[in-house]
Amino acid sequence: MAFNKPRWLLKENKGVFFFSKKKYVFFFTKKHYNEVRMYKIIYKKQLNPEICLLEIEAKDLAIAAKAGQFIVLRIDEQGERFPLTLYDFDREKGTITIVCQAIGVSTKKLCALNVGENILDIAGPLGHATKVENIGKVICIGGGVGTAETYPIAKAMNEKGNDVTVIIGARNKDLVICEKEIKEFCDNVHITTDNGSYGRKGFVTDVLKELLEKNTYDLVFAIGPLIMMKMVSEMTRPKKIKTLVSLNSIMIDGTGMCGGCRVQYDGKTKFTCVDGPEFDGHLVDFEDVMRRNGRYKDKETKAMENYGHKCKIGL
Ligand code: NAD
Ligand code: FES
Repeated sequence: MAFNKPRWLLKENKGVFFFSKKKYVFFFTKKHYNEVRMYKIIYKKQLNPEICLLEIEAKDLAIAAKAGQFIVLRIDEQGERFPLTLYDFDREKGTITIVCQAIGVSTKKLCALNVGENILDIAGPLGHATKVENIGKVICIGGGVGTAETYPIAKAMNEKGNDVTVIIGARNKDLVICEKEIKEFCDNVHITTDNGSYGRKGFVTDVLKELLEKNTYDLVFAIGPLIMMKMVSEMTRPKKIKTLVSLNSIMIDGTGMCGGCRVQYDGKTKFTCVDGPEFDGHLVDFEDVMRRNGRYKDKETKAMENYGHKCKIGL
């Protein structure tokens, strides 16, 4: 049943009226309203000033979720729909966990939510799960907030008996995430920071270059900024090492209908939401994805300016 925006709240804040599309009127008490409509946040952790972790009650999603899949969520009636890869899920508790970097209006709104508050709707789990098999020596690379999505994949690869090496890259020490969690199951963890404030100074590709010179690997997995995934793929191409990347295209419906997430792959058009999100990095036209992802930069900047203005004047 689709509900329109609540028309008014009772003065005593006891409940809310809805007008459905067929003009029926529904009244919910505040408690009931929360029960029927929402995905409640039950745990929140600020991983660093930019990135937060949210555990959300979502029983059906938790039952179906697999590593590598994503959700499309909308925070409120006015909100845009945007995708986030699953960080974790707990089938017994009936929760899913996501990690979000507050960079645009929607992600800032999401990170501003607190325990007990709700997300309006979540579609998922979407996309193909990561194919976890015993393949041999694997390198998993996480760039910035992409490290959060690398964690469940590296963990699953390790549980399958692979020899897993993880490279984590961040701009500076404060932005390094999931180090402790990854070190719990992996002994080969390399950390780089762009400014050298923690771990080795440089990019993840500096470590990758050295590892590839010393050893042979069967699979490289990279999740992070598009430019990082492109550079990783270029580095593994001459050695013909299978390389998987998780694309973060712009998405709207997440079901293959709108075409918003299309990418050029091996000369063909693919949809990240239904054909991905993982693709062979050697076949992705990264220039095209970067161009498409940058298309709404002006609008995003304007929206951020308006959002900042509203925050300051308290509207
Ligand atoms: P960032 O710009 O801080 O970069 C993180 C790391 O990537 C750097 O520390 C560096 O090691 C590496 N890197 C950056 N530029 C590089 C280059 N030119 N060559 C080699 N390595 C390079 O990252 P951020 O600000 O945290 O942004 C993370 C990005 O990851 C966002 O763009 C986000 O959309 C994307 N992301 C993707 C997924 C996905 O599923 N594909 C999931 C989460 C986030
Ligand atoms: Fe619409 Fe993929 S998000 S087709």
